[in-house]
Order: sequence, then C-alpha cells, then structure tokens
Amino acid sequence: SKRAVWGPLVGAVDQGTSSTRFLVFNSKTAELLSHHQVEIKQEFPREGWVEQDPKEILHSVYECIEKTCEKLGQLNIDISNIKAIGVSNQRETTVVWDKITGEPLYNAVVWLDLRTQSTVESLSKRIPGNNNFVKSKTGLPLSTYFSAVKLHWLLDNVRKVQKAVEDKRALFGTIDSWLIWSLTGGVSGGVHCTDVTNASRTMLFNIHSLEWDKQLCDFFGIPMEILPNVRSSSEIYGLMKAGALEGVPISGCLGDQSAALVGQMCFQTGQAKNTYGTGCFLLCNTGHKCVFSDHGLLTTVAYKLGRDKPVYYALEGSVAIAGAVVRWLRDNLGIIKTSEEIEKLAKEVGTSYGCYFVPAFSGLYAPYWEPSARGIICGLTQFTNKCHIAFAALEAVCFQTREILDAMNRDCGIPLSHLQVDGGMTSNNILMQLQADILCIPVVKPSMPETTALGAAMVAGAAEGVNVWSLEPEDLSAVTMERFEPQINAEESEIRYSTWKKAVMKSMGWVT
Ligand code: G3P
Repeated sequence: SKRAVWGPLVGAVDQGTSSTRFLVFNSKTAELLSHHQVEIKQEFPREGWVEQDPKEILHSVYECIEKTCEKLGQLNIDISNIKAIGVSNQRETTVVWDKITGEPLYNAVVWLDLRTQSTVESLSKRIPGNNNFVKSKTGLPLSTYFSAVKLHWLLDNVRKVQKAVEDKRALFGTIDSWLIWSLTGGVSGGVHCTDVTNASRTMLFNIHSLEWDKQLCDFFGIPMEILPNVRSSSEIYGLMKAGALEGVPISGCLGDQSAALVGQMCFQTGQAKNTYGTGCFLLCNTGHKCVFSDHGLLTTVAYKLGRDKPVYYALEGSVAIAGAVVRWLRDNLGIIKTSEEIEKLAKEVGTSYGCYFVPAFSGLYAPYWEPSARGIICGLTQFTNKCHIAFAALEAVCFQTREILDAMNRDCGIPLSHLQVDGGMTSNNILMQLQADILCIPVVKPSMPETTALGAAMVAGAAEGVNVWSLEPEDLSAVTMERFEPQINAEESEIRYSTWKKAVMKSMGWVT
C-alpha cells in the first residue's frame, strides 16, 4: 500500500558512545518514519582507557543509512524525498587522521578516557596568569573529559601522529569532523569542519569570540593547522559522496546534547532538558549570555542556527556514567543479558534495600570534578542480591541527576518546575518514576524519545539553501508528552539522597 508522505524528509545521524543510529523524519510533522541502529564496540586496553575504532564508527554510519533506506523502500517511501542530513555526535572524543591516506592514526580516544589524568595535573600547575585562564575562555574546568588533553597525549605519545603533523598530513577532529570529512569525500575533497557546539567541547575554543584560541593552543601544545574550520550548526557543509544518499547535503551539525536541547524545543532562556545516554547531561538554555557556574556546571555553546544567526549558550551538568552502568552490569557482571532486563530485576524488589552504587568509573564529573573517585557499591548485607544492585544502579542515575539539578537551581536562582527528559534509558518507566520521586518534581518525557536525532534533523532541514523545516512549527501532533509525578514524600526522598551523598564521599580519593 502507498503510504501518504507529506512534504520533504530529513535524515539524522546520531553517533553516540554506545551506538550509531540513522533516522528519517517527516519535516512537516516531525514524525519518525524509519531508523536503524548498530551498537559500537568500546575497547579498554588499560585500566581507565577507553577507545573506539573510528573506521568502525564510520562504517556503522553507512550501514545505518543503507538499512534505513531499505526499510523506507519497504514502506514505499521514496528516498529521493530526503532533502538533507544532520549529524549529531558524542562530543569530545578525539580522532587524528592522515588526510592523504584517509587512515586514522590511532584509535578514537573516547571522552570517558582517563589516561590524561597526570597530564591534567601537570598542566594545572602551569596555568598562566590566574587560575581562571582556561575556564574564562572555554567555560570548562581543566579535566580529562575534553579533547585538548587527549590530543596533547596523542601528540606526545604516538609517533605516527607526530610524523603526520611534521609532514603536514594530520587532521584533528571530534567525531562530527571525522564523519563529515569522510562522508563528503574523505581523501578526495572531504570538508574538514566542525560546528560551534562541538568546538566548544575541545578546550581550545574561545566561546566568546567563537574562534580557536591561540593562547589555549599554545598552552596545550596544539598546532592550529590541524584544527577543523568552525561553522555554525545549521548550514550546508558539503554533499554526501557515496551510498544510497549520494548528493544529499549535510546541513546540520550539533553535539548530541545540543541536538537534544533543540529536539526538545528548549529555545527560550531557562528551558532545560536532561538526556539519559551513556552519560547523563542536563542543559539549560541561558540565551545569548554566557553564564558561569559557581556550583560545578559547565558553560557551553548551545547552538548557532546559521552563519549570520546569534549564538546561544547553555549551562550544563555532565554526569559521566548513566546508561554505561547498565551496560557494565550486562557485560562485566553478566547479571542481565539485555539492557532492558534491568527494569524487570529492579521491579522484583522495588528498593535497593540500603544498597548504594556510585558508578564513578571515570572519576566524578559535575558537580565534583573529582578524577580520584572510583566506583563503589556499599551498604551490602547477606540479604543483598542482584536485584538490589540493579535497583541501586538505576537509583544512582537519579541521584546524580538530582545533584546536577540542585546545582542548576542554585546557579539559575529559579528552580525548575519539572524536568524534560529524553534518551534511551527513558523507556525504563521504573527509572522515570524513581527520578520524579528523587527530584520531588514531575518528570516529562516526549512520546518520541529520539530527540537528539530530531534536533539534528531540524537544524539540517532549516539550513539556508535547504529550507524544508520550520523551527516554529504549527503542527507538532507527532510529539505528545508523558508525565511522572513524585509519589513519595519529600522527607523520604531527602533521607535517601543524604545517604547517597555519604556514599559519594566514600568513592572519592580512591586513586592518589
Ligand atoms: O559529552 C559526551 C556526550 O556527548 C556523550 O553522549 O549520548 O553518548 O551519552 P552519549
């Protein structure tokens, strides 16, 4: 049967830490028509190291595009209706490749990677001028999390990278740059660019002037010629050079957390969203103003939707481990076979029975920024079983969100009245209810959880020269909301939260 399709379609690549997806939306109704997802391997070559294969990532993108196009064909939807592609991606993850061969010169060093801990320590002793040098320019604390230190490590330790820089063959990029360069032709004319949101996560980018910062590059020892061109988040960067969508413009690029902010329509100052992916990231739009946090949050570029459009900023609370704790229970402990099974286990007990799990696998991010922390499970008795541990893992995600929400409320002055959520884990209703209980405010999730991809599709479709998506749509009937109201009293919630804080204190200072 012929399916009615109104208007043009837009595709979005969502390249996350755990998986890659390609999704196709109707640009008039925001309806998701088809998608495909592939899980991405993570390698842990040493304690604290996290790597991925840039080529596997690229191939997964092609595979997802091909499979989604096949599925559209089966629905009798003509793929020539796809007018643009947006890219959203895991941020900070660092790739260096050879522009002549197209080969990556090392694995991608993933944002969660801790190998640069000693680099960070020695750099922090050398900060020029006042201690605010890095933070005032970039909005970021000096941490293993961001690209500059990962790139510094690659330049210091990988001979192939050093040689390629000497020979003027090296290109650096976060995953967006690596993908856009490859998809637009790679060795034969690939476009080496990034957008302001991804650039703002490198720690080399001045978030006020919106340019690479010479002083920062000198401080981190980064040759500026290997950096990509910084563009807005919504403009045509180039055309797809191969595959089923050859010739389609890539016209949107947003770090995944910015993409979710856009996908949740948080365009007004004070609007916020929390995305539960591998990590968990709460972003609050602060408009054209760079707001600096006194409570451990980051200042970051939210988006810039066109070359001549103004920039928007966000305050961000970053939690390193959310969905990753579920994957750890699956892959490292084997107490669940699929990620979804955690809900069943947690439901069986409905409480952690005094067990607390602080998944500080990569140290603690916001609001603590404590690289010395490591994961702990505490409060165990002979009564404790795997169900309680599963429950405690879910609760940990909620407590960590509470910590960043508290910080956000303190920085913004006006507490959020409800929390807009999205991301893979939000399909877990137990988690959503727990979250409302622990925050003591309602949690609201859209019926279509793929808001990251939606955001990337929106900005790609709205780009000048594409113009198939209106960012002020009249009809958003495809998106409805589900609400979770707090069901426990604030006092009970407070007691649990303060025990969590005790557990957090125990996780700190583990590595000296
Ligand atoms: O900053 C890291 C973030 O962009 C990763 O997102 O979705 O893979 O948890 P995700």
